[in-house]
Amino acid sequence: MNHATENDAVVRFHGVTYAAPGLPAPIISGLDLEVRRGETLVLLGESGCGKTTTLRLINRLLVPTGGEVLVEGRDTREWDAIQLRRRTGYVIQEAGLFPHFTVERNVGLVPSLEGWSEARTRERTHELLRLVGLEPERVAARFPAELSGGQRQRVGVARALAADPPLLLMDEPFGALDPLTRAALQREFSALQKSLGKTVVFVTHDVREAFLLGTRVGLMHAGRLVLLDTPQAFMRSEEPRARAYLETLRLNEEILAALAPGVENQMGAEDGG
Ligand SMILES: Nc1ncnc2c1ncn2[C@@H]1O[C@H](COP(=O)(O)OP(=O)(O)OP(=O)(O)O)[C@@H](O)[C@H]1O
Ligand SMILES: [Mg+2]
Repeated sequence: MNHATENDAVVRFHGVTYAAPGLPAPIISGLDLEVRRGETLVLLGESGCGKTTTLRLINRLLVPTGGEVLVEGRDTREWDAIQLRRRTGYVIQEAGLFPHFTVERNVGLVPSLEGWSEARTRERTHELLRLVGLEPERVAARFPAELSGGQRQRVGVARALAADPPLLLMDEPFGALDPLTRAALQREFSALQKSLGKTVVFVTHDVREAFLLGTRVGLMHAGRLVLLDTPQAFMRSEEPRARAYLETLRLNEEILAALAPGVENQMGAEDGG
């Protein structure tokens, strides 16, 4: 009998290597990874370590030069690429909206390609814009250039969700946002994820974001996965690169403590006088 976890893997990497022509070393080396149904797997790692490349291997924008990537048990090379991408919502770095399409057309793109009626597409588009905290009446007719960066990123998330794909690939969807907008979007995504229960692969280089949103966190370095575990286990890891990320969290605490000593103690504590 198969193990339940095997059956429940939506995405599996088996010894995956990806080498681009002309580069001295592969971009991805010997990657083994399993994304379970309903989980939010966060890939964390410094710039250039291969996070985006990993996502692109899932929706067959790239095919491995060694090993195999399975989605729903089927090799990505055997999938019809169009079918696969329509089942896989993809939020790319910098939102990636079509500049000459209105917000409404951007979000409704996949549903209309899928042959939904105009009315149903419109209804769905407006529903999603509301879901990500935008007012359809105000933004639907605008072009991406007429939105703020944070609004564009919300539209990118709405577009990825439009045709209700079971699998979502999110590449730094909240990057380059001010900390308040970023925190608001993280909270919204976290609530959304609880209600929608999608399988998500989420890329970030922000360790706080990784711990906040991930059911498991994978740490990548130079095309390899150096650690993959729950946030709790990650916190206890002795792996030097993981420790380095954890040190950045400690630094935040130290700054807080130095600037406002005792603030933590005042919160919720009763003063005995
Ligand atoms: N088509 C390509 N040809 C050659 N090199 C490439 C190609 N695509 C990516 N690379 C290189 O592969 C490495 C990994 O790139 P990738 O985009 O996966 O990194 P990343 O982890 O997403 O980084 P970031 O956090 O900056 O987005 C980088 O060194 C990049 O320059
Ligand atoms: Mg990237």
